[in-house]
Amino acid sequence: MHSWDNSIVNRKSATAEQRNRTYIYLERDAKTDDRNKNYTHPESVETEEGNKTYTLSTSYFNATTSTNKEKDSLKKCPLIPPGLAGKLKVDKTPKTIEAIEKKYEMLKDGKFKPKNCTARQKVAILIPFRDRESHLGIFLNHMHAFLMKQQLEYGIYVVEQTKGLEFNRGFLFNVGYKEALKDSDYDCFVLHDVDLLPENDHNIYTCPVDQPKHLAIASEKWQYKLPYTSYFGGVSALTREQYEAINGFSNEFFGWGGEDDDFYNRVAWAKMSVYRLISDVGRYSALEHKPGAANPKRNDIISKGKERMWKDGLNSLKYEIIQKTYKKLYIHIIVKIV
Ligand code: BGC
Repeated sequence: MHSWDNSIVNRKSATAEQRNRTYIYLERDAKTDDRNKNYTHPESVETEEGNKTYTLSTSYFNATTSTNKEKDSLKKCPLIPPGLAGKLKVDKTPKTIEAIEKKYEMLKDGKFKPKNCTARQKVAILIPFRDRESHLGIFLNHMHAFLMKQQLEYGIYVVEQTKGLEFNRGFLFNVGYKEALKDSDYDCFVLHDVDLLPENDHNIYTCPVDQPKHLAIASEKWQYKLPYTSYFGGVSALTREQYEAINGFSNEFFGWGGEDDDFYNRVAWAKMSVYRLISDVGRYSALEHKPGAANPKRNDIISKGKERMWKDGLNSLKYEIIQKTYKKLYIHIIVKIV
């Protein structure tokens, strides 16, 4: 049991349901973000220890009570997956794809669903990708065990940009989003950098229906701190409705930086605010790499974001699929920006 939830879990006034919910769904108030300062969660509980106030969000809990409409004779998977360990060991040693395929024989076409129960959400994990083969092996090895334990129905989409133009992270997420929906009626999209590995399996990869969620709030890359209050990079999660409500990412950010800030602004302009995990749970190990060349135009593009939001995004996306391969461990999409 974590120190962060003891205070609520032990409260005499908490109902059994609240205690259970708190165990996983307790989140830091959106107050960490100054742009969210007018937002109040529907339910909040003061702790009895110190001055800390944690917020218990009923709507967040409801979000995971099933959007999976699949007709299935199996029972729904439990709200709190059994056997979660909390803090995990993260193995950063390089692995070959062949070795990982042997380990995960139950996988097919880059997808998984639990055998004995119906998952509560269908989740597409979207990974923008270029030239990071060694990271991909480490990532897949870690993530499949992590996601299976959470009893999710999921598919991992690795979206690789062809050579030529500068890397465009936002564009690749938009392509992943569209291509994943051609495969299945996913409820939830986890937007994930390939170099980040979750360190705690209470970090459940589902989407709250009411607000987008930011998961990578304490990354080794940033000494386990949020680099700035509106930071929305690394790993975040949005439902289909939320992603559509902001027209996805801008397609205009070529090179490193800015697309996640613009994405955050879109969320704010759509009058949504961001849930953030608490830092014990939203912890990520980071894999090292050379930084990409920064986009010198990023601040200019961000500054015109509001007027661009409905002209630039999902509704203006143009791409050519060079290859879409259903591999055992992931769905590999190679895409050319047109
Ligand atoms: C960039 C973001 C990036 C963040 C942290 C900002 O300056 O615009 O894209 O995620 O720094 O590196």
